Amino acid sequence: MLGRRVLVTGAASGIGAAITELFAREGAKLALIDRSDEALTKVARACEALPLIADLRKSDEVAKAVRTAAERLGGLDCVINAAGVLSVGPFDQGQIEDWEQLIAVNLTGPFLVCRAAVEYLRKAEFATIVNVSSGIALRPLSNYAGYAASKAGLLSFTKVIAQELAPTIRVNAVCPGPIETPMIRDTYPTKSSRKKAEALYALGRFGTSSEVAAAVMFLCAEESSFITGISMAVDGGRSFH
Ligand SMILES: NC(=O)c1ccc[n+]([C@@H]2O[C@H](COP(=O)([O-])OP(=O)(O)OC[C@H]3O[C@@H](n4cnc5c(N)ncnc54)[C@H](O)[C@@H]3O)[C@@H](O)[C@H]2O)c1
Repeated sequence: MLGRRVLVTGAASGIGAAITELFAREGAKLALIDRSDEALTKVARACEALPLIADLRKSDEVAKAVRTAAERLGGLDCVINAAGVLSVGPFDQGQIEDWEQLIAVNLTGPFLVCRAAVEYLRKAEFATIVNVSSGIALRPLSNYAGYAASKAGLLSFTKVIAQELAPTIRVNAVCPGPIETPMIRDTYPTKSSRKKAEALYALGRFGTSSEVAAAVMFLCAEESSFITGISMAVDGGRSFH
């Protein structure tokens, strides 16, 4: 990753922050997008990265942030769409605002970022995009209708643009199972709800952000040079059965 120019969204927290830390350790030059100012500044400082505040639901803010990232890094080699939101509940009690928020951040956000970044990625020698979807997109669960739909949409989007951008840019997705981050903590607040959730996974535990970051790094590295358009489960073994 030495000297590779990498843009990460959702870098202020959880999986995005872990991806940033891993890529920084491996010598990448990083630009980070998030809406969370204070947390983003902290991660950026620790990783000597460029922090860019933008709301991924807003086309003009995304275009400006991606342009600034490419200008300041001298181009782009990798784009990693890690930002996301979660809301859970029976679909027939869902609010339209929650549904729209899930689609806007989890699906429209990566579309806007990829669309803005593609002109820079096309100029790179070995360009990659990785979209962070979810194991829920591969094997849906009750109460996750909006989230599953947004993340399954992201997988379809990934497969389509992998074809459109080949062979210049490889595009893949990772599909994490439950990962120890702020996003998941509220979903399983009690010991018993957590135990029940862990039992759904062959490995019997939640994963860590660094386990997802390692998969993302593989999909950005030359070692994965013959891989494009895949949805890689990093889910402790739930989607295969
Ligand atoms: N944690 C899990 O169990 C899990 C499982 C599967 C998939 N994922 C996915 O992994 C990704 C990272 O999740 P996480 O657990 O690290 O969550 P997190 O809440 O810790 O981090 C998400 C980040 O996205 C940013 N973000 C949200 N909306 C934004 C917007 N409109 N504009 C800019 N930034 C915005 C937040 O500020 C935050 O920094 C998400 O796409 C999530 O759906 C997480």
